[in-house]
Amino acid sequence: MTYSVAVAGASGYAGGELLRLLAAHPEFEVRTVTGHSSAGQPLIATQPHLRSLAHLTLRETTPEVLDGHDVVFFALPHGASGALTAQLTDVRLAVDCGADHRLTDAADWAAFYGGEHHEAWTYGVPELLVGAAGAKQRDALVGASRIAAPGCNASTVALSLAPGIAAGVIEPSDLVSVLAVGPSGAGKAAKTHLLGAELMGTANPYAVGGTHRHIPEIQQALRGAGAQAPVTISFTPVLVPMSRGILATSTARIAPGVTAAEVRAAWEDAYADEPFVHVLPEGVYPRTADTVGANTCLMGVAIDEAAGRVVVVAALDNLAKGTAGAAIQSANISLGLPERTGLSVDGVAP
Ligand SMILES: NC(=O)c1ccc[n+]([C@@H]2O[C@H](COP(=O)([O-])OP(=O)(O)OC[C@H]3O[C@@H](n4cnc5c(N)ncnc54)[C@H](OP(=O)(O)O)[C@@H]3O)[C@@H](O)[C@H]2O)c1
Repeated sequence: MTYSVAVAGASGYAGGELLRLLAAHPEFEVRTVTGHSSAGQPLIATQPHLRSLAHLTLRETTPEVLDGHDVVFFALPHGASGALTAQLTDVRLAVDCGADHRLTDAADWAAFYGGEHHEAWTYGVPELLVGAAGAKQRDALVGASRIAAPGCNASTVALSLAPGIAAGVIEPSDLVSVLAVGPSGAGKAAKTHLLGAELMGTANPYAVGGTHRHIPEIQQALRGAGAQAPVTISFTPVLVPMSRGILATSTARIAPGVTAAEVRAAWEDAYADEPFVHVLPEGVYPRTADTVGANTCLMGVAIDEAAGRVVVVAALDNLAKGTAGAAIQSANISLGLPERTGLSVDGVAP
């Protein structure tokens, strides 16, 4: 069976990556693409790299245009999808790449986003540990009709730290993550601080001091992984001049009495059978370049004995595994398709 698909926000970065992956997916047929200011233009006017979809024209983003497709992917600015998704009446599966359906706690939404809080949907990070005995988020995605794809930084950090939390080998109250991130994570809309002249040859920290919107999402995910104490994380992203990619360095205090071997085993056991999350051999650390265009999260794990901390370095492509790849992987699971369908583990480096 071929599923009919619509992509809302098809002129943006996340929408463009969804379309690139969907165009090569054997079970999905992209029938409709929508935009906002670009509605009425040919898709390739805004996505000139998507030659196989050159026949499509961007339409208005309305419930009437989106209803009637088997699957609808939303890639709109946060706050724009919640009201729209509530009006869908005839869509088997909706996947939101924005934040509107990620947070379960209305107070978190009010504190970090503001505006109306919409119901939380099934979280689209299949490999995320959820509770005891190695259970994964994958199980919740089977048959789900509404899926919230993750924040790119949030899923990188949650995947980095969940194994230690679930195994009880790190302390959830003392987590620190510093991320090098590419500017495509901030979207395609023109912003002065994202101009080439502001980004080239410099590294620019932003949302410093506990203000980044992905913090409550990370805390929610790590609580779900079985944290036995409140989750406290110091989270600092730094914009660097690479168009795609996240390199997250996360550290956590090792719990008393836990050995280095037990720490390493927590990560290796968590991801041993995962097709897209790979723990690299001891002493090897990932590069963002190796994840570009791939649906992979690559991870290196070190034990800093002197500091009493584990150090996890994780790389992924914010637009692939960080958004569109996670959305399609989750949709595959929901619809009962093989999870890897249409998704590659090979990047395009250099
Ligand atoms: N970029 C990433 O790495 C990434 C990662 C994870 C999650 N996400 C999430 O994915 C969503 C899209 O991000 P993006 O980076 O693709 O942003 P983007 O490049 O700015 O694209 C935004 C898209 O939404 C449309 N749009 C703008 N305002 C709208 C409105 N009021 N109503 C309906 N449509 C509107 C735009 O249409 P026009 O261009 O026609 O105006 C465009 O198609 C965001 O919620 C973001 O947080 C992004």
